[in-house]
Amino acid sequence: MTFLIDIGWVNLAYVAASILFISGLKGLTHPRTAVRGNLMSAVGMLLAVVVTLLANGLDYQWILLGAVIGGAIGAVAAARVQMTQMPEMVALFNGFGGGASVLVAGAAFLITADPNAQTTIATGLSGLIGAVTFTGSLIAFLKLAEIMPGRAIGFPGMKIFNAVVGLGALACVGWLTVDPSATVAYWIIVAAAGVLGVTLTIPIGGADMPVVISLLNSYSGLAATATGFVLMNNVLIIAGSLVGASGIILTKIMCKAMNRSLTSVLFGTFGPSADGPSADVVYGGRVKSTSPEEVAMLLENAQRVLVVPGYGMAVAQAQHTVRDMANLLEARGVLVEYGIHPVAGRMPGHMNVLLAEADVPYESLREMDDINPEMEQVDVCMVIGANDVVNPVARTDPQSPIAGMPIIDVDKARTVVVVKRSLSPGFAGIPNPLFAADNTLMMFGDGKKALQELNSALKDV
Ligand code: TAP
Repeated sequence: MTFLIDIGWVNLAYVAASILFISGLKGLTHPRTAVRGNLMSAVGMLLAVVVTLLANGLDYQWILLGAVIGGAIGAVAAARVQMTQMPEMVALFNGFGGGASVLVAGAAFLITADPNAQTTIATGLSGLIGAVTFTGSLIAFLKLAEIMPGRAIGFPGMKIFNAVVGLGALACVGWLTVDPSATVAYWIIVAAAGVLGVTLTIPIGGADMPVVISLLNSYSGLAATATGFVLMNNVLIIAGSLVGASGIILTKIMCKAMNRSLTSVLFGTFGPSADGPSADVVYGGRVKSTSPEEVAMLLENAQRVLVVPGYGMAVAQAQHTVRDMANLLEARGVLVEYGIHPVAGRMPGHMNVLLAEADVPYESLREMDDINPEMEQVDVCMVIGANDVVNPVARTDPQSPIAGMPIIDVDKARTVVVVKRSLSPGFAGIPNPLFAADNTLMMFGDGKKALQELNSALKDV
């Protein structure tokens, strides 16, 4: 590689870029510093790209064309995406990252005159991981966008098929290492891994997709790292490793918050247990429904209110109406806080993002472990479109599919008001005894509409 800038300066710039990536990631751990963190990482990436382009004395014509077209597509997509479509956009962009690794590593390999073992193994792995990421992410995108059915799809002998195809692809990595002139081996790896990406992702059910997307995100980082070893580019190795590691950490956090193993997400199912009590047994005549006027009176007399949002708030797009309710209560001196469960909704940080969009102050957000010990001091807990993340069965029934999943203990609040349309179950597909508890009132209706009615009633009391 011919450097126009001294290699020492290039590496120094790469170190600075890496420091910006790591500081940026640290910033992303808190909502208050997240925007700054994002900016720092972006500046780091800009530095890495500019230095790489300047260092190598390239013909910029095609690079500029690619950057303009790609940049325009990215900017339009980011500006137009709806908050609820974020997971599918992330899935698609992950896939492109994997696809880029396949092409870049393949192209670099083809022009390398006498590749050594490191280059060959790295090329094989880049093709393998990159192609799994590409097709797997496309399937995840199609499922999330409902272009393909979101449910689990499979065929008999699928696991054996996957094992054979995976081992075959690995064998081809070995073949390429032994005989670097066998470029056909690379394309077999890419084709086999492309098939594997599809067959590994189609058996995963729609609502497990966020976990899979996070895993595919990690794979796209690993593919980039492998490509970094092909090109011997330090900053690509570092950036890829950071993506790989943070993706796997996020995957682990999500699995833990759902009390599921990664194996059960990838190969198992998540549904109602056959022996669990039926909805009739759990609810049988004990559910009390309430009206917005009654809830307004309850809230009027409360000193401390906790809002616990869930997937239904996202579906109803009720975050602004929730904020309006909080404003009305705060104007009367009521303390309003928000209890955030790590897997409420369908993507990590789903509730934080929605509430931030409605200008809810960060200080009012309380994490599950932080708010649970204080639950007995909460006068009214408003559960808005949340179900599984507040289901006490997780604590009480070891046979339940959500047994052991940490929950927000809203049942311990003095009064609980649940806003949802019906007694339908949540993602886990099981009844929720909270809805029939003595201290619970159900306010049936679409989240946004019910809260608008409540806000009108609050203005009248
Ligand atoms: P869920 O348990 O899925 O319950 C959501 C509830 O929202 C439903 O019971 C539904 O009841 C209600 N709802 C739907 N549309 C509504 C509307 N327009 N207005 C009011 N309510 C509406 O949600 P959750 O408590 O947030 O739990 C999340 C679940 O997803 C957990 O099981 C979690 O493990 C899983 N999950 C989460 C993630 C991440 S990263 N967040 C990833 C994968 C899986 P009605 O139909 O009666 O209205």
